[in-house]
Amino acid sequence: MSMQHVIKKAVIPAAGIGTRMLPATKAQPKEMLVIVDKPVIQYVVEEAVLSGITDILIIISDGKEVLREHFSKDQLLEDLLRRKGKMAELEEIIKLTTLCNIQFEYQHEQKGLGDAILCAEKFVGNDPFAVLLGDTIIESPQPLTGLLARDYEKTQSPVVALQQVGLSIAHRYGVFVGDKISDRFYKATQLVEKPPKDNIPSNMVFSGRYVFTPDIFRHLRNTAPGVNDEIQLTDAMRSLMTERDLYGHLFDGVRHDVGNKLDFIKTNVLLGLKNEEMKNQLKAWLGSL
Ligand code: UTP
Repeated sequence: MSMQHVIKKAVIPAAGIGTRMLPATKAQPKEMLVIVDKPVIQYVVEEAVLSGITDILIIISDGKEVLREHFSKDQLLEDLLRRKGKMAELEEIIKLTTLCNIQFEYQHEQKGLGDAILCAEKFVGNDPFAVLLGDTIIESPQPLTGLLARDYEKTQSPVVALQQVGLSIAHRYGVFVGDKISDRFYKATQLVEKPPKDNIPSNMVFSGRYVFTPDIFRHLRNTAPGVNDEIQLTDAMRSLMTERDLYGHLFDGVRHDVGNKLDFIKTNVLLGLKNEEMKNQLKAWLGSL
């Protein structure tokens, strides 16, 4: 295994079908849906960059090329903005193309999150790497991927971000059971993907941010389809746990899963209320409803 201690690479799975957001996602990727003033994927990439990531691989499916276009240089647009004197907008557009090195890989068949991550094997090589779900925005005092990267540096072990949810909704998530090691830090003892409603083993669930070592790929390759007939990352992580320790970091912050309709609306309102330009008017309007 690599002796690299710092996490520089990140994989962003964004190849899902987005069934829960149809018809919005028929022709447009859910990762391109706008929250306040930018697409979801841009929030995710910005978190990675703030976390010290320099190389990103975004996993897309056929038809989702607009994700690539969002981060590509557009000389015509730049020239136009410059001619019109729109310098602030020009700066934003140029910044987008220079955030970090972003590459793309296809997952041609949507066989699940675990299978999407397998598409990153060549990109990852022998390095530890972060995974950030492309439809999940995290609000936290410090960039969450960076916190996980620091946990990895200390433990040299894979680590997942956790949040606490009500027991009545835990069946929708991957659930983490573990022993407390220190404040907000747990060693995993059991992992279950979407447990049955009447058998929820813990209220701590995965939050869409992970750090792995490349040995996860061997376990992903040996993972058979599980819940929903998809290759489940959780099943591969459980297999990995037979060989090495895996940790969970209960983070201080909020996870916004933009992949369902209600949370999409809520996220727009909550992040709108944090936007300097619109927060006062939005608040007044919400108060008048
Ligand atoms: P989800 O299960 O939320 O995505 O996967 P989905 O399949 O698009 O959603 P629905 O259920 O159809 O509405 C979480 C993340 O994993 C990616 C998704 O793009 C999302 O970022 N994913 C999922 C893949 O890249 N490939 C897959 O085969 C499945």
